[in-house]
Amino acid sequence: KIIPVIMAGGKGTRLWPLSRSSSPKQFIQVVGEKTLFQKTLERLANAAIYEAPVVITNQDFRFTVAEQAREVGADLSAIILEPVARNTAAAIAAAAFHLRQTFDEDAILQLLASDHEIDAGPDWSDAVATARQTAASGKIVTFGIKPSEPATGYGYIERGEPLASGAYKVKRFVEKPELAAAEAMLATGGFFWNSGIFMCRVDLLLSELEAFAPDVHEAAGAAIASAAVDLDFVRLDEASFQASPDISIDYAVMEKTQNAAVVTSSFAWSDLGSWDAVWKLCDKDDNANVVIGHATVMNTENSLVLSRASHIAVQGLKGVAVIASEDAVYVGRLDEAQEVGKLVKHLTKSK
Ligand code: GDD
Ligand code: MG
Repeated sequence: KIIPVIMAGGKGTRLWPLSRSSSPKQFIQVVGEKTLFQKTLERLANAAIYEAPVVITNQDFRFTVAEQAREVGADLSAIILEPVARNTAAAIAAAAFHLRQTFDEDAILQLLASDHEIDAGPDWSDAVATARQTAASGKIVTFGIKPSEPATGYGYIERGEPLASGAYKVKRFVEKPELAAAEAMLATGGFFWNSGIFMCRVDLLLSELEAFAPDVHEAAGAAIASAAVDLDFVRLDEASFQASPDISIDYAVMEKTQNAAVVTSSFAWSDLGSWDAVWKLCDKDDNANVVIGHATVMNTENSLVLSRASHIAVQGLKGVAVIASEDAVYVGRLDEAQEVGKLVKHLTKSK
């Protein structure tokens, strides 16, 4: 069976003010009744294929994780807690060391983001089956998504030779390219977005981390060796873990490994990382507006208006995002949605 490892320690700042440091993107209802983390758990609720998931997150979210899992009736095999944030490479390394202790070395894990919207229909099941076979043959498998625009917030995968399993070798992996480079890759063709989901054997993941990110590997190994375990919680040792460099798995391993493969899949996928992505995903009115919650629009086009609090009325605007949470309001241009993270940094500084 596949062991799911859910990465749930991100900040999701571009969805401010719905996403806050105390309740980041993965733990809120962006669209629909359930949180993105809960939807991730529901996708994995198939005991024929999956073991109970392991969740890795910041210690501040331990009760949020336990409570949200309980609400959807998901059993977790462990909740690994980071005392400080050191990005995904360190989080993943710690999870891999934990799995090596708990399962076999040749166990197969699937790394999943906790904050994506995915249509887990037959295309998804097919992709998982192909990935599993490819991972067993000694590859780090990525799930490639057909790109629709030269987005700069994603990793790009160049597809190489076909493999027997139906997957392909990865020729090149480029994390978050500049716009010109992204445009060039789209024009060339044969490139896919990295969905941020990976599958591989535990021992291969650890040996690639050791080869390409030895400091991360060492810090995470020590943090697991000295971890304090109580009930489901595995608390990583702080002194060891904080010694890890702050780097994502994409830069640390995926850009460097020679053992990457890609399953090119066609399930519907959205990172839902910014307000323009939310606008793209949701149903629109005749003027291409997405209106959610307590809101009214007039003479307005191509806009996203969402309120969880007081009633918002928007008149005579084009291409804007107006987002109201209980205690903050954001107004901005939808085509600047990638920059909201910068604004949040500025806000935190000036407080
Ligand atoms: N445990 C833990 N600790 N989880 C983390 C941490 C951390 O320090 N940092 C981020 N995460 C989690 C996030 O909650 C999310 O579920 C996942 O790891 C990915 O992190 P993001 O911060 O959302 O990454 P990204 O969106 O910028 O880029 C990644 O995903 C893209 C697709 O959405 C990369 O893998 C890109 O290549 C990819 O295209
Ligand atoms: Mg993301």
